[in-house]
Formats: sequence, C-alpha cells, structure tokens
Amino acid sequence: MVISLKHQRFNIGKLDKSEIIRLLQAQGELQQDLFREARAVREEYGVDEVTLRGVIEISNFCQKNCDYCAMRASNPNLERYRLSIEEILSIVDQIKAANIGIAFLQSGQDPREDEMLEQIIPEIKKKGMEVLLCLGEKPQETYANFARLGADSYILKFETSSPDLYKHIAHTPLEKRLECVKSLQNLGYRVGTGNIVGLPNQTLEHLADDILLALSIKPDFVSSSPFIPNQETPLESLAYGNLNLTLNTLAIYRIALKNCLIPSVSALEKTYKGGQLMGLNAGANVLTINFTPDTFRNKYAIYSKQRFVVSLEHALRTIEQAGLKVKSPF
Ligand code: 5AD
Repeated sequence: MVISLKHQRFNIGKLDKSEIIRLLQAQGELQQDLFREARAVREEYGVDEVTLRGVIEISNFCQKNCDYCAMRASNPNLERYRLSIEEILSIVDQIKAANIGIAFLQSGQDPREDEMLEQIIPEIKKKGMEVLLCLGEKPQETYANFARLGADSYILKFETSSPDLYKHIAHTPLEKRLECVKSLQNLGYRVGTGNIVGLPNQTLEHLADDILLALSIKPDFVSSSPFIPNQETPLESLAYGNLNLTLNTLAIYRIALKNCLIPSVSALEKTYKGGQLMGLNAGANVLTINFTPDTFRNKYAIYSKQRFVVSLEHALRTIEQAGLKVKSPF
C-alpha cells in the first residue's frame, strides 16, 4: 500500500531503514500528515476506542541494575516494599469497580513474588478480568506456570535493539531478553514490547532498528517511552528523551502494526504537559491508570520519584480531548 503524505510519498510496504529514519525526523506538516495517517489506520482497523488498564505496582525489589531506573538493585536509598496478596486483590476489586477489565501487575524483577503470584492469578481470573504481567525476565517454567494459571498477557520491552547499548545500560545480554519474549509468545501469551527513546549514545539508526526489531517480533502491544533522567541512577544528569522522536515512533508503530495496542505512556506526560494527548493523537490507543496505594507509589521509582501518576479523571479527560471513546471492557 502506498500512502500519500503531503510532501513525499511513503511506501508502507517498503518500510525500510532509510524510510524509517526519514519519518522519525518528521516535523511540521509532514509530522501532522504522519499522525493523520496513523489515526486513519487506527480507525480502519477498528482499534480507535481507548483500552484502559489498571496497574498495581506489586513490588519494587529488583535483581537487575539498569542504569536508567532507580529501582536498580544497587540503589541503597530506596525503601523497598512488597504488597500482600490481600492488598493486591482488594486493589483488583477497585480496578473492576472502576469498570476497567485489565489487572496489570507490574514489579521489579523479583523472584520472591512468584509464589504469591501463583495464588493471585487464579483469583483475578475468577473475577473475569484479563491478567497482564510485567515482571521482567523469568525462567520459561515460571512463565509457563503463570500461563497455566490463567495469565493472559505479558509486557517485556527490549528497551533498545542494540546489543552493545543494551549490555552497556542494563548489564545483561539483550539476547536473553529476546529469548524471553519468544518463549512468552510460544506459550500463547499476548505479548507487548517496545523501546526507550533518548538512551546515551543512541542514534537515529538505533531508533530505526528498534522499530524494525519491534515489527519482526509481531507483538500484540508495543510502546515507546521518552527517557526520563532518574535521581539516584548513573544517568541522572542525561537530558530528557526527545518528545517528537517518541511520538513519531508511535505513529510508525501504528502504521506498520495496524491493530496493535499502543499505550500513550505516563512518561510522555512527565516530559511534556499534554504529552499523553499527543500520544493518542499520534495513534496510541491505551492508557494505564495507576492504582498503587499512595504510600507505595513514590517508592516505585521506575523513572522518577516525581513521576506523573495517571488518575482515572486525567485519562478520561485526555480521551475526551482526543475525540475518542473508552473501549467497553466487559
Ligand atoms: N525513562 C523512561 N522509561 C523508563 N523505564 C524505566 N525507567 C525509565 C526511564 N528512566 C521503562 C522501561 C521499562 C518500563 C517498565 O519502564 O522501558 O521496561
């Protein structure tokens, strides 16, 4: 299919690296055309109602030591917590009461959560909700066990497609992470992945390769997040990731991956007030509402202690401003 952007024609069938690099840099009218095309694809594929997810950040313990994240194992200045089964299930009830059908359980890479999750997953399924997990790299048996217990979907972002850059900032091999993505898919999970824009020494070429890697994975969900410099991390004085590059990435993901679920992440709002609205306007169709209790939220220092916490009110307002509707969950 060839679509006509105002300035140059863009061949979607041949979304090669040089095309992607050109589109990543789109500004002004070309960028507006790119976003318009992304919205048209979203509509054409029947995915322009916004899916809401309710996230519970169940533990901030982490085995990994990613340079961009303050939950890294070697940060001694973060008070660590794990929510109890009872706490988690009562928050799941709040999510359901808010008419949200997806219980999204997120944590640092914390194997001590696994036993508890074996009890939690079936309980959530009994409530008729989707169980979406984002718990990092785990042994295949653990993924298989969670799937057997009813877990539906899993997000594991590759963060960057460059093996060198990944190793440099996450200190583990990218290959292992990609193997985890594969095994999740083989186990029948619906799988989400994606990248971060603005990592140190990341080039446009890297970002184009990120998009090509995402396309090759054929994910069910895909995201792009601007890098946020995080206190108590080795990257705390790096600049914010570029908003336009992130929005253009979202639009290209939409155009190439058609009916994918694409979140407009809270890091967009943290980077720029109104950033999540811009994400929806660039083709995204998911917002994640934070249900972690106040007392623990600040300790889930995923990208900043002062991160933007998405409330249901903020999400509904943003969806209305985008001229979209909430997807009915049940
Ligand atoms: N900036 C942007 N995104 C971040 N994440 C973690 N730390 C940061 C940061 N400083 C993202 C990673 C991770 C997801 C849960 O949050 O992509 O996979």
